[in-house]
Amino acid sequence: MPDKKMVIVTGGSRGIGAATCEKLLFQGYGVISLSRTEPPSTDILHLPCDLTDTDGRRAVFENLCKRDDVFGLVNNAGIATPNLIAEFDHQLYAGVMDMNTTSVAELSAAIIPSLIKNKQGRVVNISSELILGFATRTAYSASKAAVASFARTWALELGKYNICCNAIAPGPVETELFVKNNPPGSAIRQQKLDKIPLGRFGRAEDVAGMVAFLMSDEASFITGQTLYVCGGSSLGSVPV
Ligand SMILES: NC(=O)c1ccc[n+]([C@@H]2O[C@H](COP(=O)([O-])OP(=O)(O)OC[C@H]3O[C@@H](n4cnc5c(N)ncnc54)[C@H](OP(=O)(O)O)[C@@H]3O)[C@@H](O)[C@H]2O)c1
Repeated sequence: MPDKKMVIVTGGSRGIGAATCEKLLFQGYGVISLSRTEPPSTDILHLPCDLTDTDGRRAVFENLCKRDDVFGLVNNAGIATPNLIAEFDHQLYAGVMDMNTTSVAELSAAIIPSLIKNKQGRVVNISSELILGFATRTAYSASKAAVASFARTWALELGKYNICCNAIAPGPVETELFVKNNPPGSAIRQQKLDKIPLGRFGRAEDVAGMVAFLMSDEASFITGQTLYVCGGSSLGSVPV
């Protein structure tokens, strides 16, 4: 395997994915981003990819699986389309599940054989603290619970190849996705802030730091876990 460890990050163009790419570059990894728009740095190898386009994404995944220098995969890209269960919309539901869950399984299935061959690797699935339940997020919460569950199953299957698989469950992190669903001045935004013991929303860099840790040698005995990066908001009680 070449000296530079390559890490693939989905959705490296902005938000948590962009911060993750930046952090990994800083730590000396080579970084490949799969996204529709360009990532902020030209040091990131950008592979244009619409993860909602089943045929298009499979073509990109097939090319990627020819690489023999991949060390890490960060399944980060995700979408949320809030919808009450009483107003269930099959198209919205299927779209979220396909992008947040099926594409993650397909990309991982394409990359993992080369990690097995190299007898090392790290897979990090970006889940969400909303796996604990959140009104209007039937599809989103289920899709994020699925990727946390993937990490547990893959940890069992891949431990013997020295491959660690974990999930990160961020709390509210102030990115484009978050602001869209929690606009400034909205009651929901204030409610979320009131629930965070550390008294602030997360920054994309908070999650990027955990991804970088999970890629590091220090994390080589951690697998199958879901790590909450949430300022304590997943604890479920209102702080004093
Ligand atoms: N922000 C939060 O509070 C929070 C909390 C918990 C979990 N998360 C999870 O963290 C992950 C990143 O969230 P974020 O807040 O950073 O989101 P964001 O700011 O909206 O960024 C989403 C990223 O996903 C990519 N993406 C979206 N649709 C895509 C598509 N069809 N094909 C390819 N790439 C696509 C976007 O790239 P392009 O638009 O360039 O394609 C972008 O890089 C998501 O999985 C989200 O569910 C976020």
